[in-house]
Amino acid sequence: MPLLRKMEQKNNKFYITTPIYYVNDVPHIGHAYTSVLTDVLARYNRFLGKDVLFLTGTDEHGAKICRSAEAKGVDVKDFVDENSAKFKELFKLLNISNDDFIRTSDQERHWPNAQKIWGKIRVKEDVYKKKYEGLYCVGCEAFITERDLVDGKCIYHDKEPEKIEEENYFFKLSKYGDELKNLIEKDEFKIYPESKKKEVLSFIGEGLRDISISRPAKDIKWGIPVPWDSDHTLYVWAEALVNYLSALDYKGGGKLYKKFWPADIHIMAKDILRFHAVVWPAILLSAGLELPKSLLAHGFINSGGKKMSKTLGNVVDPTDIASRYGVDALRYYLVRELTPFEDGDFTEEKFKETYNANLANGLGNYVSRVFKMAFTYFEGSIKKPDDVLLSQISIKEDGKETYSVPYVFDKVLWPKYQKNMKEMKINKAADVAWEAISILDGYVQDYEPFRLIKTDKEKTEAVLWSLLCGLANIVWMIYPFMPETAEKIMAGLGVKNHKDSWEEFKLNEVENLFPRKE
Ligand code: ME8
Ligand code: MG
Repeated sequence: MPLLRKMEQKNNKFYITTPIYYVNDVPHIGHAYTSVLTDVLARYNRFLGKDVLFLTGTDEHGAKICRSAEAKGVDVKDFVDENSAKFKELFKLLNISNDDFIRTSDQERHWPNAQKIWGKIRVKEDVYKKKYEGLYCVGCEAFITERDLVDGKCIYHDKEPEKIEEENYFFKLSKYGDELKNLIEKDEFKIYPESKKKEVLSFIGEGLRDISISRPAKDIKWGIPVPWDSDHTLYVWAEALVNYLSALDYKGGGKLYKKFWPADIHIMAKDILRFHAVVWPAILLSAGLELPKSLLAHGFINSGGKKMSKTLGNVVDPTDIASRYGVDALRYYLVRELTPFEDGDFTEEKFKETYNANLANGLGNYVSRVFKMAFTYFEGSIKKPDDVLLSQISIKEDGKETYSVPYVFDKVLWPKYQKNMKEMKINKAADVAWEAISILDGYVQDYEPFRLIKTDKEKTEAVLWSLLCGLANIVWMIYPFMPETAEKIMAGLGVKNHKDSWEEFKLNEVENLFPRKE
């Protein structure tokens, strides 16, 4: 696989993050979605040979969490410990390969970093005190304006914001609009997708307003004290964003920080794009730090066409789906059936339909059919044919012979897969694996190994080798999405790495990967 070797870039770091999730409630499928997408990119980049640091974690301060704990009548610290653990558990269940997990209530790792950066910004005189009167959405933990509302309510939380009147510290966000606009336009700070980049540019174009970075400590005690004034608590967003630096021990300025900053990509949904595309880079510019190289803001998952909400009772629990259909089935759905650049929808009906069509029938059936023939006709040992024979059993298109199976993967399918991954069209990259399955299904029909075996054993072996070689390629394509399935098939194929030329497959039995669901 010469192409794959070329894909590897050694000594190349890749720092990727999810948002840190609020622990006011248990995780749902939206959190699973972001984490799976991020995991796919992390795994893909490890596959490319990069030194990946994948960070996730939980956001544990602010009014929302405090109130949720109070409503339950439990101690805030116990409450956040318990809910943070639920996110950790979910990520473990979903095979999320994060290298680290940060919590903003961690007074050793996070607090000193948040305080250091704001201290630096203050010294630069980008912070001032001002009386603030305005609207605050506790759900968003954000100061919002009338123009953010629909029918007087926050679009994300369907709630009227609270009126707030308090004296806060402000950050001179307005100062950084032009510089930021320039960096975004030139893609030096790249925003995926293009539509979101435009949205951010037009938001900046309207003129940025300075933002509050603190709340009075008498009202908001659960948080990080403003380092120069303990009567104030750092506003939850002002410190939460710093988690991406805290995990690298920015304050200590050690090896991790030197190696991994700036982040290569932050992943999140559109709801918190402005914080990541405007506030965060402005904080970094003010503090004199490098900006992350890129952001991906994906769409929202709705449930049965409606926004998920407890009141509607349509919140999808990823643990429940994974326990009934399998972790990789869930990962498959999230990656392939949703488009990262748009809003998507989840219904169990659709889930089951695609499970049966693409996993039970598509991939699962392909594996069991090919393995069965290989065991029945060749006791599971299949040798690679010579080039002449290989060229005689090339893939047919409209009845015409085209190229051998390995050639088509090398020259057509892998480049397409890679291009999609590079453009963050992660669902389209997954499509390539299923395109490959359909090509190979056609190949079986063209050469009919189950008939051919009666007349030409050598050619049948060559056809089966091609089918297995195709599968070995598919395994590496699906590995980032469905790591457990990929590993099971790899064990069945007896292959360990993607650089193999597979001179001989010595197969092991593979279980039924995706039993049909009625
Ligand atoms: O905003 N569809 O945390 P959060 C898709 N703590 N993704 C969804 C989703 C949905 N329906 N619902 C949630 C916060 N998400 C802050 C972040 S970062 C420094 C601080 C995912 O728990 C998506 O990634 O409200 C979204 O951006 C994130 O969860 C919001 O998580
Ligand atoms: Mg939220």
